[in-house]
Amino acid sequence: MFTETKIKDYTQLNQMLKGLIEDETDRIANLSNASSLLNVFLEDINWVGFYLYEEETDELVLGPFQGLPACVRIQNGKGVCGLAFRGNDIFIVDDVTQFPGHIACDANSRSEIVVPIYRDGTPIGVLDIDSPIFDRFTEEDRKGLSDFVEVLKQYI
Ligand code: SME
Repeated sequence: MFTETKIKDYTQLNQMLKGLIEDETDRIANLSNASSLLNVFLEDINWVGFYLYEEETDELVLGPFQGLPACVRIQNGKGVCGLAFRGNDIFIVDDVTQFPGHIACDANSRSEIVVPIYRDGTPIGVLDIDSPIFDRFTEEDRKGLSDFVEVLKQYI
């Protein structure tokens, strides 16, 4: 269905996402394919996946991802993921070694972007992407991945 050519832009990627998940209602299946899509089509990344909010424990729990095995639970408000989630704010960290409280799962990671996922005010989790390169994530990534999550959250 897909070939591993790099995409032109996020508009194209986000159209592919919609085509891939719009006929399916299973959350795990759609998050799995979404993480695969990002892994195949984004350059210079070493980890991409989701953490899903668990209300009882007030923690983010590891969901579908691509990359090395990662830490399973992140307390709300901790690490880049927990801070972005708690504030419902996209975080771009240009140098994770300088970020107080960064949680290192893959020692190769140098920069990171975290996009919170909320639907109608209900917390769902975060999209987290790591890169082995400093300063990897741009304003284009912020906008494109924000749009990606807008599509995704309709189908999870
Ligand atoms: N670096 C994240 C933890 C998750 S891993 O990058 C997969 C953080 O500080 O929250």
